[in-house]
Amino acid sequence: MRILAIESSCDETAATLLEEKGDAWKIMRAVVATQIDIHAQYGGVVPEVAARSHVTTVIPVLAKTLGSVRPDAIAVTAGPGLVTSLLVGVETARALAYAWDVPVIPINHIEGHIYANWLERTDIAFPALVLIVSGGHTELILMKRHGSYSLIGQTRDDAAGEAFDKGAKILDLGYPGGPAIALHAHDGSPDAFSFPRPMIDADNADFSFSGLKTALLYRVRDLKESSTFSKKMIPDLCASYQEAIVDVLVSKTIAAAKKHGIQSVLLGGGVAANTRLRTRLADECARALPESTFFSPQPKNCTDNASMIAVAGLFHARRKDWVTWKKLDVRPQWKVTHR
Ligand code: KG4
Ligand code: ZN
Repeated sequence: MRILAIESSCDETAATLLEEKGDAWKIMRAVVATQIDIHAQYGGVVPEVAARSHVTTVIPVLAKTLGSVRPDAIAVTAGPGLVTSLLVGVETARALAYAWDVPVIPINHIEGHIYANWLERTDIAFPALVLIVSGGHTELILMKRHGSYSLIGQTRDDAAGEAFDKGAKILDLGYPGGPAIALHAHDGSPDAFSFPRPMIDADNADFSFSGLKTALLYRVRDLKESSTFSKKMIPDLCASYQEAIVDVLVSKTIAAAKKHGIQSVLLGGGVAANTRLRTRLADECARALPESTFFSPQPKNCTDNASMIAVAGLFHARRKDWVTWKKLDVRPQWKVTHR
């Protein structure tokens, strides 16, 4: 079986062709067209601009991905995400499914981020705990088997990616903020400035990052008002701010993993590309959870792509969990815990 996957939920237009062979599968081609340069001029994703760019990009991306291949099924991100961006991928999938008379598999974008882990290995043991950290989501998800998701905790305000993006805006580092903060943090000390670790000791698996962002805002404002701010402080500010985010993510993930008798700890979403988070979580898992295995997809599979949608789609296709083009819909608020 060959599956075409399409992803257009935010600012990447992506397509992947996956071929299943017996129990195994192979990514035949994967294309990602990013709009980062366009949105960087505005300091963030502008939905109308994103949708227009998807419209002009989706067919060239598909042509490059497919060549002359006609797939047997189409997996497409149906939500959550920006409605006008999602519509481009979904309506393209609908038109192709109608023309080719093939089924469509609506995929939840967060489920895609989870399945980025299966892109690289197939021996992941359940129960698994997944820390999803993207631009719009920070969630701890318990997976007892394929296709089963329970929400253990989530952010009450900003997502971890938003904390990075808003922090970078305060420090004038451009968009997207995560990679910019990580780059500067590399040359700074994580102990140089003290920032709060919101909810780190709370007896639940929820997160909150808006207070941390405000702490950075006030810190920078105070430094500027007392004329002590200098560009040389940026690496220390970034390293200390990043450390506060990472500390909270790591500590709450380990606590939840202990509570739920987890076999595998997984990472997913754009912020999972962060080296500090990956190494800190790997170290803490090895130290505090010797019975379980930690895994994080390689960075290019953490940020938005269609290969993760293709693998998620394959698991649904194996269960014949698909629909006809008539039943396909965008679901901008779709929660991964609901099918
Ligand atoms: O999953 P993703 O590509 O798109 C969404 O589904 O939102 O995640 C994008 C987020 C952005 O907030 C971006 O700043 C963050 O991931 N990000 C990072 C890194 N690379 C991307 N955050 C921290 N460190 C990174 N290296
Ligand atoms: Zn994403």
